[in-house]
Amino acid sequence: MMTRKTLLATLLVMAFVLGGASTAVAREYADIYMDSTRSSMEKADVKAVIFPHWFHRIRFKCKVCHENIFIMKRGANSVSMRRIMEGEACGVCHNGQIAWEALYCERCHTAEFEPKQTADAAKQ
Ligand code: HEC
Ligand code: HEC
Ligand code: HEC
Repeated sequence: MMTRKTLLATLLVMAFVLGGASTAVAREYADIYMDSTRSSMEKADVKAVIFPHWFHRIRFKCKVCHENIFIMKRGANSVSMRRIMEGEACGVCHNGQIAWEALYCERCHTAEFEPKQTADAAKQ
């Protein structure tokens, strides 16, 4: 029979494992961490980008973005500020008409850079 202590330890381990699993799910279906252009972002002294996927998904049909604007694969789209300012990628909407203009850097560049392995692991 399990002692009370072992039971508690087991529950803690389970909570940790389940907690970890749900974080991965949240990452996949909600917020997308974007850092393909990391070195340029670091040079410009802005943080990595978090794309709030869910926030957009409840406002637009998938086909608004996939695959005309974005390929449905994390990290597969080369987004640059130049493309955004020219009305492509995020700039299709973030142009001051459909949504606010891409002038407010800190609204998109919100994430601390992740260690390389973590970012890669999150992609799998
Ligand atoms: C406002 C635009 C937009 C809408 C609407 C949208 N997505 Fe996305 N989606 C993106 C972007 C941006 C990415 C990330 C691309 C990247 O990292 O290069 C993405 C990535 C994805 C991915 C890849 C995730 C991964 O981990 O590789 C899937 C799957 C996906 N979207 C499914 C959907 C579905 C299903 C819907 C509708 C319910 C939807 N998207 C609606 C913009 C959108
Ligand atoms: C299909 C149109 C569309 C595209 C494409 C799009 N957005 Fe948005 N986005 C919106 C709209 C609409 C809002 C809400 C604006 C408002 O509240 O005034 C929004 C809001 C946001 C917000 C704020 C979310 C919040 O919690 O208030 C962020 C951050 C954001 N977008 C980032 C991005 C990034 C990064 C991309 C490109 C990878 C992108 N968006 C592409 C339409 C779009
Ligand atoms: C609507 C969201 C959004 C806003 C607002 C925004 N960015 Fe970005 N930015 C992005 C995305 C998405 C990328 C590409 C991220 C990746 O995949 O690496 C990016 C990439 C960059 C890069 C690296 C690529 C390049 O074009 O050189 C720099 C530097 C940058 N942003 C600076 C800025 C500055 C400065 C501002 C404010 C004037 C700003 N950004 C505002 C979404 C945004």
